[in-house]
Amino acid sequence: MKKDRDNFSSNLGAIMAAVGSAVGLGNIWRFSYITGINGGGAFLLTYLICVVLIGVSVMIAELSIGRKTKLSPVSAFLSVAPKTPWWITGLLATLAPFLILLYYPVVSGWAIGYIKLSIFNWSEIKSDSAQVFTDFTAGTSSIVFSIIALLLTTGVLLFGVSKGIERISKVLLPLLGVALIILVIRALTLPNAFDGLKFLFYPDFSKITMTSFLDALGHSFYSLSLGMGIIITYASYMKKEDNLIKTSLSIISLDTIIAVLAGMAIFPAVFSFGLEPTQGAGLAFITLPSAFAMMPLGQLFSIIFFFLLFIAALTSMISIMQVPVAFLEDQFKLKKKTSLISVGIVSVILGLPAALSFSSLADFKIFGLTYFDFLDRVANNFILPITALLTILFIIFKFGINESIKEFLIGSNKEKSILTSMYKVAIVSIAPIAIILIMLHSIGLF
Ligand code: TRP
Repeated sequence: MKKDRDNFSSNLGAIMAAVGSAVGLGNIWRFSYITGINGGGAFLLTYLICVVLIGVSVMIAELSIGRKTKLSPVSAFLSVAPKTPWWITGLLATLAPFLILLYYPVVSGWAIGYIKLSIFNWSEIKSDSAQVFTDFTAGTSSIVFSIIALLLTTGVLLFGVSKGIERISKVLLPLLGVALIILVIRALTLPNAFDGLKFLFYPDFSKITMTSFLDALGHSFYSLSLGMGIIITYASYMKKEDNLIKTSLSIISLDTIIAVLAGMAIFPAVFSFGLEPTQGAGLAFITLPSAFAMMPLGQLFSIIFFFLLFIAALTSMISIMQVPVAFLEDQFKLKKKTSLISVGIVSVILGLPAALSFSSLADFKIFGLTYFDFLDRVANNFILPITALLTILFIIFKFGINESIKEFLIGSNKEKSILTSMYKVAIVSIAPIAIILIMLHSIGLF
């Protein structure tokens, strides 16, 4: 079963590719809008708690499973626990990215569209950004842009892991960092920027609810690309000499820093112009452009922002698409091209209603949510935490905690670090208990 697989050329390459996957629409578009809805600082704090207590250990768990088995998720679970239902975990881990792939290109397409709108239709954005958003998402051009985003992703994946993903992440990530810092400086130099910082960093504890906890938990998995086989898949391409501890801490800290910086770019701008942070999914596309429209050189900053959003989206989308593609290759022995084309076509067809969720299908509801929100909620607040929980149980009962510790210590120069004991405590108690409690609450049992 173990065929010769393409490896990353260096640990840095592997880290960059994983960071490229982690840093995406989640850090900029999704983080800012759910932070806005959930009251700012209190949500940021809850989110950070989830990242430190749960994210770190699940990240290490996935890295060790992936590198040890050198297989994609379903095959990895099958090879460690043959003839048991554990492969279902791998299947769920493949399903989440597939569901996300149905709406991620839509938002990525908006980012491309908004680069164009910022250049050519700036006066319309200036006069009514909400109307521009409605018209744009209702028109065919938003669908065309989504398909372009998907085609670009397919193109990169055709070049393979080390050449495609690694190379593009190495070039695009530093660019993203620079663009983000420019935006933060712009935002912080606006009048009353402090109000936005206060909103983001000052926790109002009355805003913490079980629902915001579930949002924070789901978002921590989403943002770190956990619970969906991504990290298992990437780790399967890493080498034994690679330091998994360093890798996990680098991915997690970079991902978190970028989300916080995005918040520091967005909220001061929103507050400076007296706008509301509670817009929801439209925060980055309606509220923020309104803020740009009111600031000096706003058009330029709008172009930079949407370019940044698109770069972040592209490197993540590559990793999202990689999972179902690797699944078809490994399980059905399909050629890479065939798998890519099949996944591409299916996601265009099933993704179409997501693109229309803001216009002609706005009234089509599943459990009270539009198709777009339904995909987002089911994948992030249910499948990701459940898969993460199953992965933890798999480590405890099948793979072995010690086996996983042994794997992540290979390539790390420290014999045993504090991380080993933290990992043990987190994986057998904190992480599973927290996930179970939050899930029980969300289905109304608790
Ligand atoms: N982490 C990415 C973000 O923050 C999203 C992402 C990348 C993702 N790969 C994924 C989400 C796989 C689900 C599945 O935007």
